[in-house]
Amino acid sequence: MSDFWHWWIVLLTTACLVLTTWLLFSTRKAQRKELTEETTGHAYDGIEELDNPMPHWWFLMFVATLVFTVGYLILYPGMGKWEGLFGWTSVGELERDQLKHERRYAPEFARYAATPIEELIKNPRALKMGERVFINNCSLCHGMDAGGNFGFPSLTDNDWLYDDTPDAIKTTIAQGRQGQMPAWGAVIGDKGVKQVASYARSLSGLDTTVSQDDLDSGKQIFNTTCAVCHNADGTGNFALGAPNLTNNIWLYGASQTQVEYTIRQGRNGVMPGWHNILGEEKVHLVTAYVYSLTHKAE
Ligand code: HEC
Ligand code: HEC
Repeated sequence: MSDFWHWWIVLLTTACLVLTTWLLFSTRKAQRKELTEETTGHAYDGIEELDNPMPHWWFLMFVATLVFTVGYLILYPGMGKWEGLFGWTSVGELERDQLKHERRYAPEFARYAATPIEELIKNPRALKMGERVFINNCSLCHGMDAGGNFGFPSLTDNDWLYDDTPDAIKTTIAQGRQGQMPAWGAVIGDKGVKQVASYARSLSGLDTTVSQDDLDSGKQIFNTTCAVCHNADGTGNFALGAPNLTNNIWLYGASQTQVEYTIRQGRNGVMPGWHNILGEEKVHLVTAYVYSLTHKAE
């Protein structure tokens, strides 16, 4: 807050307070012993207003609010940059609340963190907590139901970029992953892109409109250029996050146009790492939740 606005607020608040105090006292009628029958002259539907002061207790309530206001503005922030004698801040209050919460749940978190994922998925309470972590942090990209979006993998099917063992999933979540599909347009040319895209689509049984010769050329390109990462049979490679191309589950769309685009321009999917943000215990819980989506407890 700049000095100008600081003083602006101080001035405005003080002026308001002084004005209301003056108004309260200046319009106060001297307390009369006897109540009067005189009217103020206001009448509405035959109801008249008597010219009596407001009850004493009511007046005192006004005075009390004024005293409270002054006390409040000294103890708490309100006057521009003045922080108040108590040094209260909303952030401080939030942090105190969070700390209280963490203390309360710490033993439970610690117990879950020490339980292997395969065991933890039998515990509905732990999964509920994991689900909450997921909805707050992951649903933005992977969807509320973890069903995925274009470029963001579904976590509910059995197609995995980086394997689905508890360890692999936990590593993915804790450290993040970066998919590196290089751009091949300049290397294999437009014709090559079309041919190998058709071949890649044919691996999962999708119709292709190219000739058998083109499909054969596509296969040639695949074996020399793509197989290093996607495997000779196109089933992918967990170590690189190279997707399985034989199951008709597509991260970036199944159409000839999308597959060509992927091959021509490359793709670089980034899964952020969560260890530093969530900490070990919450990562463990959300791993259990993700694991439970595709694995039944025995
Ligand atoms: C900013 C978007 C974003 C957020 C937020 C995000 N992810 Fe991801 N996640 C991705 C992307 C993109 C990938 C795929 C990476 C790739 O293409 O190599 C991915 C991959 C994954 C995978 C690997 C899937 C597989 O097939 O191997 C898991 C598991 C996962 N995310 C879980 C989570 C969890 C749990 C959270 C929350 C703690 C989370 N993600 C938050 C974008 C995100
Ligand atoms: C250096 C390793 C590497 C090579 C070589 C490579 N790819 Fe990829 N490819 C990947 C990775 C990793 C991804 C996932 C990208 C991501 O997660 O964003 C991918 C993604 C794809 C996809 C998208 C799959 C989907 O589900 O949407 C297609 C299609 C594909 N590659 C085809 C090819 C073809 C065809 C070639 C050869 C011309 C090739 N790739 C060469 C690593 C590679």
